[in-house]
Amino acid sequence: MTAPARAFEHDGIAFGCDYNPEQWTPEIWDEDIALMTEAKVDLVAINIFGWSHIEPRPGEYDFDRLDDVIGRLHAAGIRVNLGTGTASPPAWLTRRHPEILPMVVDGTRRYPGGRQAFCPSSRIFRDAALQLVEQVARRYGDHPAVELWHISNELGCHNALCYCDESAAAFRVWLRERYSDIDALNAAWGTAFWSQTYREWDEILPPLATLSLGNPGHMLDFHRFSSDQLLDYYRAEADVIRPLSDRPLTTNFMVTAHIENLDYWSWAPDMDIVANDHYLDNRLADPTSELAFAADLSRGLGGGAPWILMEHSTGAVNWQPLNVPKAPGQILRNSLTHVARGADGVCFFQWRASVQGAEKFHSAMLPHAGTDSAVWREVVELGGIVERISEIAGSRVDADVALVFSWEAWWATQSLSRPSQFVGYLDQVHACYAAAHALGLTVDVVRPGADLSGYALVLVPGLHLVRAEEAAVIADRVADGATALVTFFSGTVDAEDRVWTGGYTGPFRDLLGVQIEEFAPVAAGQTVTLDDGSRASLWSERGHATTAEVVASFADGPSAGSPAVTRNAHGHGAAWYLSTQLEPSAYRDLIARLASEAGVTSPVAIHDGEVSALELVRRRGAEASYLFAINHGTASATLGATGDELVTGVAVHGSLEVPAGSVRIVREEAAA
Ligand code: GLA
Repeated sequence: MTAPARAFEHDGIAFGCDYNPEQWTPEIWDEDIALMTEAKVDLVAINIFGWSHIEPRPGEYDFDRLDDVIGRLHAAGIRVNLGTGTASPPAWLTRRHPEILPMVVDGTRRYPGGRQAFCPSSRIFRDAALQLVEQVARRYGDHPAVELWHISNELGCHNALCYCDESAAAFRVWLRERYSDIDALNAAWGTAFWSQTYREWDEILPPLATLSLGNPGHMLDFHRFSSDQLLDYYRAEADVIRPLSDRPLTTNFMVTAHIENLDYWSWAPDMDIVANDHYLDNRLADPTSELAFAADLSRGLGGGAPWILMEHSTGAVNWQPLNVPKAPGQILRNSLTHVARGADGVCFFQWRASVQGAEKFHSAMLPHAGTDSAVWREVVELGGIVERISEIAGSRVDADVALVFSWEAWWATQSLSRPSQFVGYLDQVHACYAAAHALGLTVDVVRPGADLSGYALVLVPGLHLVRAEEAAVIADRVADGATALVTFFSGTVDAEDRVWTGGYTGPFRDLLGVQIEEFAPVAAGQTVTLDDGSRASLWSERGHATTAEVVASFADGPSAGSPAVTRNAHGHGAAWYLSTQLEPSAYRDLIARLASEAGVTSPVAIHDGEVSALELVRRRGAEASYLFAINHGTASATLGATGDELVTGVAVHGSLEVPAGSVRIVREEAAA
């Protein structure tokens, strides 16, 4: 099934975009390619939504225009990231086979007219798509312009959870493989409750809309199934391409705020290189920190290897309630933050702004205004910088902090029957990460159970669902000398969503030395005070320390007198527990205390400036290391650094000034 990974080999750091030439005439293609050359674009994703163009009628293929576009790109020395074209079924297919249309939770179908209108389990869809993939792979598998395969597009973006009869049948097959025995399924889902016991496999449906709360175990397994089902689809396309092409394969992940449906820990091993799409979400409290988190998670998915930022935007998107442009310099800061955090490619959606269709107000590298625009000038500037820093490709990010992240915990946390609907898993992860980010710490994001041996500080925010063996890895690392922080609602359920009894935090209980008896969530808009004066919100817990030292207690609120922050010595290290959501400044102070205990610092000395305004990361290569310093603030900063600064081309001797809003990248003389 899966083949050994074939590395993505690009000369330097790729700079590119999605390109949709179907929307334009050949005269425009020539102008596009000339401007791409000016901007130093060298990797272009095409044919992502090509199906209705290259197979206009069933079994009738027309590759003339695609041949032409690929030929022109090749002649200009631009490499191609070739879409398989299957991201959206053509109208002829959905008209002939309306049964491939996806069904949502209330049992109604969703119609064509948007995109991704297919059920991930549909055999008819799969057969038709694979026939197209074979044609595309036969035609272009050896084409010298093709550098990378781009399978489908953002698989599961809209259709990850399909509830139709065909999905139901596939779900039952998946369940039989997982449980073999229906009693094992009944035990796993706790169906003794509310008379839900199943006697026959055929009685089981997807978790369609119910009148009352549904069964959380059922929903958790449906998430697992849905993620596996789309991965199976990815593999089916990959299996068609591999015998016909020796180029690496990937698909664009959506490690970005709010998209939760695919467990990319299970997907990543199938990617020849991890690729991610990231869009700043201005609805978040701290979009800059979330960008850094998403980049660190993208790197983590590949085990620290370089990855590709397959899409981001030069400005406004079109799908948030308020779609705002980027501030001057922000394209550079955002793009180079991804590079700092391990990206070996920086690409945008899309090349030329559409004038029609659902995304006509989405920003692009070449905006509606044309080249006489700040966006275009910044794109060209970025292209120049990306070329100048090409030697950085292949280097790896240094980090001594790990953050444990889990899609399964995310799914289980978001259950409808949780203690507070205001507690979100990703919010907890972001808050914890933001505190570390504001201190300039570099964080590797790892899966539960991952080897933690290189990390002095381990952060475990809201790891609601955890297996005993995953908790044991964290405890062992602490016993070996690390400092860990576990935060509230962690260790509450096992892999079957069954509560760990005997006191919350379950398998973390002995490590943490606390006995948590009751959850006492705090109402939206209310705060509680800790006896060290700090404020917190959202959550509190009633309980007591067993072996831990109480660092701070709740001074008021529903858990007054119970511990809020504890520290438990464990072997050669210490495990801290936080049973509430601290306000950001207090959270930062807590992480600073843990970092100091663990001996981890930001990668560079700050002589002047505010660390929370700076993005500081070091990538280490075979020959040199590279210090990235990105100043998001409004005041200049001065850092201790020596080497060649690659953005300005100026040598630095002991002191690097990073003006407000700018990016500096120093090739350091000695390994720091
Ligand atoms: C996703 C898709 C693109 C485009 C962008 C818009 O990332 O892959 O086709 O729709 O969103 O932000």
